Amino acid sequence: MLDVYVAVRVLLTGTFTYLLCVFLQACWNKRRLYYCASKVKGPLAFPVIGSAYLFFGGTQNIFENFIRLGKKYGYTYKLWLGNRLYFVVSKPEDVQMVLNSTVDRLSNIKFLIPAFGNGLLTLPGDEWKSHRKLLNVAFNQKILNSFVGTFASYSNVLVDKLEAEADDNFFDLVPILTRCTVDILIGTTMGVNLNIMKGGGHNLISWTSRLSELAVLRMAKPHFQPEFLWKRMSMAKESKILSEKVHNFIKRIVEMKRSETAQNVELSGTKRIFLEQLLKLEDSEAMWNRETSIEETQTILVTGSDSTAVTIGFVLMMLGMHQDIQNKTYEELVCVFGDSQREVSLEDLHQLTYLERVIKETLRLFPIGPVLGRHLTSDLVLGDYVCPKGSSILIPIIAIHRDGKVWPEPLKFKPDRFLPNEISKRHPCSFLWFSSGPRNCIGFRFATMAIKTVLATVLRHYRVVETEYSSISEIQLKMDVATKCVNGQNVKLQKRLQQ
Ligand code: HEM
Repeated sequence: MLDVYVAVRVLLTGTFTYLLCVFLQACWNKRRLYYCASKVKGPLAFPVIGSAYLFFGGTQNIFENFIRLGKKYGYTYKLWLGNRLYFVVSKPEDVQMVLNSTVDRLSNIKFLIPAFGNGLLTLPGDEWKSHRKLLNVAFNQKILNSFVGTFASYSNVLVDKLEAEADDNFFDLVPILTRCTVDILIGTTMGVNLNIMKGGGHNLISWTSRLSELAVLRMAKPHFQPEFLWKRMSMAKESKILSEKVHNFIKRIVEMKRSETAQNVELSGTKRIFLEQLLKLEDSEAMWNRETSIEETQTILVTGSDSTAVTIGFVLMMLGMHQDIQNKTYEELVCVFGDSQREVSLEDLHQLTYLERVIKETLRLFPIGPVLGRHLTSDLVLGDYVCPKGSSILIPIIAIHRDGKVWPEPLKFKPDRFLPNEISKRHPCSFLWFSSGPRNCIGFRFATMAIKTVLATVLRHYRVVETEYSSISEIQLKMDVATKCVNGQNVKLQKRLQQ
């Protein structure tokens, strides 16, 4: 009996000593992180969870938390989330330094791969660099200019489709705008006319939106993250099946386009499409193969469509809420188009400067990527602080865009904040609509051209009568892959009388 007692004691002591050693070793390995963190203020952190308690309760209160924490701790503070150290950085000079000198996103970006493909958005820094260099060519201005006709013709289909909604009732803009932007993205990336808005449809939207939902869920819940646990969950199986469906859908189109080029068929007449550029890379670049073309096509398609749709929706909501600004926007459209119903052209886009200010002011208040993340692979000195290798940086765009010291009356919608003389008074990184630095949004010009074309077409045919929200502070936001309204983007539309 005594022997058993001694054996249990030895076993327990041994286990305890082993665990203590593992713990001390982990602390020792992180000593530099602890040291650097001790120099920066931040909220109370508990063992194991750190300050993650601040973010319990879903993605809806993340925005308010970042704004509140910024007010309490200033422009730079630390956050322990689990055992990971983050520095939250919002001073525009520091933000510029971070975005110009880092290219690795946070490690949890990998959870987006099933929905977004393994392309630019998710690739680690070294691989990303060569892909980005090659893809920048596909996004050159000449190619983008050739897309305006596609943007305009889908905008006309949208105008037809909105007719059914232009009654006296509120409706949510998200579904119809998403169908429109997926049509635009498929038309321009792959040169295929799916006509999802006209009901030609494909389950692509439901597959990718469910995949995004699963990805956000996995990013938000630490116990879904370890691969060995995730693999045992039914959601993992669902994600795999849906991801294969999206992949196969794109693969079929890629193969079709490839055989068209093999038969020397002009891929898309005078129009250039992204896929054409990607397929050329298969012939000229050793590191580029069929899989790379498919993954990058998926990335561009999914990243581009959701963000563009949601932004157009927010602009229409803001115009519904601010009738004086909607009138000024319409006056500019009348100035450029007169009473003509013609399609929007490239020249028109250059002239719509007030509309551009409206879009900028909307993205100030509702940035699509509300919090940017970077992982540090080397030390970064920011003023008096050292952010050590192995830690990460969070840039809360929403807090920067609503900082009252830079944007007086931050919750007021004032497009003239973006008049050239006003812009020159601010630091360039106080406004990060498409981020900044080498890893900014590659679709920046594509998006602004597409959004302007859709809005210039829709607003000539419809007036946004009102939104369901009476003020900006009433709009509750949630952090999906993109910023979304908790209760939808609801507006009432009225058809304008045509002269
Ligand atoms: C209003 C619309 C859009 C907004 C507000 C937006 C914003 C952003 C932001 C904030 C980032 C993250 C940058 C960073 O981490 O520093 C990003 C990345 C990206 N966006 Fe956009 N985006 C929009 C539309 C588009 C479109 C239309 C496309 C494609 C046609 C696109 C493709 C991408 C890609 C591929 C990345 C990853 C870039 C890289 O890592 O090199 N985006 N976008």
